[in-house]
Amino acid sequence: MKEKLWGGRFSKALNKEANDFNSSLPFDCKMYKEDILGSIAHAKMLGECSIIPLDESVTIINGLKQILEEIENNKLQFDFELEDIHTQIEKWLIEKVGEVGKKVHTGRSRNDQVALDLRMYLKNETENIKSLILNLISVLISIQKENTKTYMSGYTHLQMAQVITFAHYLGAYVEMFKRDFERLNDAYKRIDVMPLGAGALACSTYNIDNKKTAETLNFKNVMLNSLDAVSDRDFVIETEADLSIIMMHLSRFSEELILYSTSEFKFIEFDDEFTTGSSLMPQKKNPDILELIRGKTGRVYGNLFSILTVMKSLPLAYNKDMQEDKEGIFDSLKNAANCLSILPNVLKTMKINKENMLNSVNEGFLNATEVADYLVRKGIPFRDAHSISGRLVVYCINNNKNLSSLNIEEYKKECSLFEDDIYSFITPEAQIANKTMLGSPNENAVMEVIKINENWLDNNKMS
Ligand code: ARG
Repeated sequence: MKEKLWGGRFSKALNKEANDFNSSLPFDCKMYKEDILGSIAHAKMLGECSIIPLDESVTIINGLKQILEEIENNKLQFDFELEDIHTQIEKWLIEKVGEVGKKVHTGRSRNDQVALDLRMYLKNETENIKSLILNLISVLISIQKENTKTYMSGYTHLQMAQVITFAHYLGAYVEMFKRDFERLNDAYKRIDVMPLGAGALACSTYNIDNKKTAETLNFKNVMLNSLDAVSDRDFVIETEADLSIIMMHLSRFSEELILYSTSEFKFIEFDDEFTTGSSLMPQKKNPDILELIRGKTGRVYGNLFSILTVMKSLPLAYNKDMQEDKEGIFDSLKNAANCLSILPNVLKTMKINKENMLNSVNEGFLNATEVADYLVRKGIPFRDAHSISGRLVVYCINNNKNLSSLNIEEYKKECSLFEDDIYSFITPEAQIANKTMLGSPNENAVMEVIKINENWLDNNKMS
């Protein structure tokens, strides 16, 4: 059994099974870079504040830099018998620079160290998710631009409701993904707090300058309470929650696209590159990719619930339970990133069947609301107009007609105020054109929103 960082107090080695059970190295090795950069910043501060001699801090820093390079060039292999990434890096450091390496942990505990590593890791990874969201939005906008006149039915209760356009439909998701991006931006502010200096729970007696460390590591703020700094994981929970919301949006979108690709709808067709076949039924073309996006939403929700539950009754400050924070968030970040990365490619290659979308608009009495609105314009109270239009729909159903094929006498039988201009008022084009408000499916309104969102994209472009 390898010697422990904390071996001094113990006369017996840790049981082998307990050792494996306790180890987080198999998964926290992902944070090797953060751990090393954190240690470099800490060692720099220790030297500059004369907590250790300056030349020793330089030796430590050089050793750590070499370790980083060697890991990245596959020259070092993790030793999974060790307890965690912090133990592993410190062990390598001591092997490399000798006794001086033992000073790196001065004024630090693995409790503040692990909080730092995780915060650094999340800062990078959420930036990655954010740039994937921006890419998805820009793909959605490019498809929107081609489809501002692509009429389709909008639904409520999955029943045909009113005419919209495909651009307007996609625009709904643009707004959702914009909010997802902004939620991550907001969470970032709370991740961006440097916990080092908190020590195990109550700081140390060295004159640690945590602002210096924060500056080196590009953190905006430092912790204001040492107990909180080592025991809080709400920044993980918040990120998990934000990822869950992103997945919920992706899943909902996927579900609709799957539906729209069915033979019953035929609104869209996915490219062969992004569909799979059936081993039994030769005719099948299955939207596996979108089904998997929908399916992976489950595990991301699961990870959120898992960390919420882990944290719910932990007394302050650090408890080993908190080691359970990492696998879930790593899994959520990886899966959300994979989904956000593949979806734009599915979208870019799918065929949009404008004709079928338009045909759907002519069924389902999508213009019944406009028939009522027509009467409202003639002074009839909306509730009465609604009921007249409803009676006309029933008449159409019974006589196998639709509201555009009724003749004017049939209209007048229900209400004498109908004139010939009713027909031009209820075409799909008119239904859209007569709604001019920003936020409506009207072509100009959608184009204006696209401009707003292109500006938004420019303002949020990442370096
Ligand atoms: N591997 C631990 C974790 O992931 C690091 C902190 C360990 N601290 C301790 N006092 N055992 O949470």
